Amino acid sequence: MEKLVSLCRRRGFLFQSSEIYGGLNGFWDYGPLGVELKRNLKDAWWRDMVAAHDDLTTHAGAPGAYEMTGLDCTIIMHPQVWKVSGHYDLFADVLVECKESKKRYRYDQVRCRWIDGTGMHLPGSDQQYATEQVKYLIATVAENEAEDLEKRAMKLLKVRSKDKDSLKWIDGVTTLDQIDTQDFDKVFAPEATKLGTFGEPRDFNLMFESHAGALQSEDNKVFLRPETAQGIFVNFKNVTDSSRVKVPFGIAQVGKSFRNEITPRNFTFRSREFEQMEIEFFCHPSQSQDWYKYWRDRRMAWWQSLGLSGKNLILRDHHPDELSHYSTGTADIEYAFPFLPEGEYGELEGIAHRGDFDLRSHMEGKLDPNSCPLTVQLGEDGKPVHRGSGRDLTYRDDITNERFTPHVIEPSAGADRGALALLCEAYHEDTAPDDKGQDQTRVVMRFHPRIAPVKAAVFPLVKKDGMPEIAQDLYRALKKKFPAFYDEKGAVGRRYRRQDEAGTPYCLTVDGQSVQDQTVTLRDRDTLEQVRMKLDDVVEEIERRVTGSC
Ligand code: GAP
Repeated sequence: MEKLVSLCRRRGFLFQSSEIYGGLNGFWDYGPLGVELKRNLKDAWWRDMVAAHDDLTTHAGAPGAYEMTGLDCTIIMHPQVWKVSGHYDLFADVLVECKESKKRYRYDQVRCRWIDGTGMHLPGSDQQYATEQVKYLIATVAENEAEDLEKRAMKLLKVRSKDKDSLKWIDGVTTLDQIDTQDFDKVFAPEATKLGTFGEPRDFNLMFESHAGALQSEDNKVFLRPETAQGIFVNFKNVTDSSRVKVPFGIAQVGKSFRNEITPRNFTFRSREFEQMEIEFFCHPSQSQDWYKYWRDRRMAWWQSLGLSGKNLILRDHHPDELSHYSTGTADIEYAFPFLPEGEYGELEGIAHRGDFDLRSHMEGKLDPNSCPLTVQLGEDGKPVHRGSGRDLTYRDDITNERFTPHVIEPSAGADRGALALLCEAYHEDTAPDDKGQDQTRVVMRFHPRIAPVKAAVFPLVKKDGMPEIAQDLYRALKKKFPAFYDEKGAVGRRYRRQDEAGTPYCLTVDGQSVQDQTVTLRDRDTLEQVRMKLDDVVEEIERRVTGSC
């Protein structure tokens, strides 16, 4: 992972936000190559899900033909949207605060391990030893967990490096939320110097707040959206009234979302500002199970089509115990990100059957997610805790005349996590011959050609004898179709290496023969195969290879 992070910075895929001021935790900027990669990912999604969707054909696995359309909603919406959706009351993580360091941690992300302190130095004392049986809980949030736990235990018990084998660990590593809060006095918090500094766990709402208008009061408090989905639900009526879409149909949206994550970590995986690619698919309740299965498989196949096809990608169905009772299914598409322990996967996309929960909430008022059947959550005064819009968000089928509240299937993907998975999957080290024919280790980003930031690079072998002129004309012709790069500096082998690191699938070299017979060599990034072809055929051939790979 460190090698990938360093490559991302060095080659301009990703930078820490505001880096010259020390960076801002949880915020990332995409550099010249990164912006192309992420844009290609979002464009591929939009094209495959919306723009190129054929609504006259029944696609493999689908219960029938369907329509797709799009939206682009504001990031700040009426605050009632978040009250009714449940985010205002329920969108919280549980955190613990260390009273000494003032640092806050996600309760379920503090990792800890019991250690036997019997006979060892008493914490805080150089002379006294624990005569009775005593144990402590060493806590860490460090990525090098095992090392940090050992270091912290040695610090607490005043054990020298040479004696570290005398540490007596009890059981394996667990998380703090598995520990009885009665035992908090025995916890050695990650950045504390003494025991028992954690306060009681408490809820922390993840929505960023701001104020709309000149005054800063409760009345004009607004929130940055934590998901793009709600913009789609509140526009359901606008879309059905203004376009001719008929159920079943989907509304897609790509856009920024914001979550004030307590512990942003693992590069861009858990960021505070990120982009989502979400679809809300509206269907008849009787068909919702079939549509759920369709979307679950379709989305998995889509990620595979972009090159995440190996054992690193899995589809995990949620266990019935994990589901809210109004949902009859949720599945996660997960990727084995290299920063995770062996055998663990991180969520790339969730596909959820949401029933009629969202449309009904925006009609009737915030529903109690624990009620069965779903009912509006009422306050002590017998009125809804959060009022709905009162607008009719039901749908009338104009053939059967049936009126119903559509059920929703929600495939919700992260563009940043997607880009990160593509970067992880692409990173390879292999050997390739240098200019002298000697095999050298090379770093190569094996992006699928469709999402590669630059599709082709053009090199004149030398900067004279008419080669640059031919190469520049070729570069201009390619540039009209897709991102291309021209490079005439340095040995040609080094130029290939730079493109391999950028993930450019094809390099074209103009040499002495090109001047004679109007041919160039085309080098394939992955096979290293070089073929000579007519200059006039190059643009078409690259286009064929890039689009043919879709
Ligand atoms: N509307 C449903 C929803 O937002 P989610 O599982 O909370 O569901 C969907 O988010 C996707 O958004 C995730 O699968 C992930 O790819 C991305 N995502 C969520 N939180 C993120 C974060 N803090 N940083 C980066 N991506 C995130």
